[in-house]
Amino acid sequence: MPKQSILFVCLGNICRSPLAEGVFRAVLAERGMADDFLVDSAGMGDWHAGQAPDHRAIAVARANGLDISGQQARAITERDFERFDLILGMDRKNIRELQEIAPDAFRDRIHLFRDFAGGGAEEVPDPYFGDAAGFDETYRLIRAASEGLADRLAKPGRGKPA
Ligand code: 4NP
Repeated sequence: MPKQSILFVCLGNICRSPLAEGVFRAVLAERGMADDFLVDSAGMGDWHAGQAPDHRAIAVARANGLDISGQQARAITERDFERFDLILGMDRKNIRELQEIAPDAFRDRIHLFRDFAGGGAEEVPDPYFGDAAGFDETYRLIRAASEGLADRLAKPGRGKPA
């Protein structure tokens, strides 16, 4: 069976989308669903291309048992729109800009992450110019949305582990 592919997108690909990539991977692994999905992340811009995630994102991941330090930032490319079944943006500006650059045929793959995950039409706000507490909140929002996304994408009948 072909894997479902999911791309998380934020502005710089050093804070929110690398966290989403790491957290969603962990949620899939906890549920025995990891083999069914290909997960990646990208930024709207290439300012941080090649860099590891922001140290505050690495720290909040580590505090929650995850190592995201090996990830490398990259900018989204036109090919991503055909490669990924789902393209999940963190905020409305991401969505607007993704809609602008997406080829027509693939525009319906673009969704607001928390909305698609069943958490209401809400953003994962940009924590970059805030403090460490902001990253705790970012982690909490991403963890909840990742659980919701895994619920939505779970095979019928497979159910959640107790
Ligand atoms: P991200 O956060 O989009 O969650 O990765 C940001 C990272 C970098 C910048 C802004 C937001 N920046 O302005 O460089």
